[in-house]
Amino acid sequence: MADAGREMRIYTYPHPVLRQKAGTVEEIDQEIQALVDDMIRTMYAAPGIGLAANQIGKPIRVIVFDVREGNDQRRPRVLINPRIVEEEGEIVYEEACLSVVDFSAEVSRSGRVLVEGVDRHGKPQRIEAEGIAAVCLQHEIDHLDGKLFIDHISSLKRSLYKKRLKKMQKSMG
Ligand code: NI
Repeated sequence: MADAGREMRIYTYPHPVLRQKAGTVEEIDQEIQALVDDMIRTMYAAPGIGLAANQIGKPIRVIVFDVREGNDQRRPRVLINPRIVEEEGEIVYEEACLSVVDFSAEVSRSGRVLVEGVDRHGKPQRIEAEGIAAVCLQHEIDHLDGKLFIDHISSLKRSLYKKRLKKMQKSMG
């Protein structure tokens, strides 16, 4: 487990793969298993608490996450074809994203969600989440629909970020 997978390049905004709607996984084959291993390795290396397949350039409906705090023991969760089946309430949380360089902003989302999908063995999963876990699941499932957390902030804040990003790219030559 610890040695599985490769650390992959994480694509960053405005790369078009982040805007693609990810395709449904029809069969959990070797290719998907390898993708899951790569995603877990890449998430921990970053480090991040969640990663969607789009972020490593594969628009396929797979997410991995591990939101436990102070985790000396890693316990990655994998959800294939995840979907939100129930949601309620509200939470405002300061979000960031491995694909959105050098930026964070408060985003309002549902405070509690019920998410269904299957794990890497094809076993049905039903995950009830609140707090940061609810935020993380909604953020990662957004990625699969080609959405980023900056789509949830005001257009003014977003355009300020775009300007700053352009400046950073220029100064990097
Ligand atoms: Ni993200």
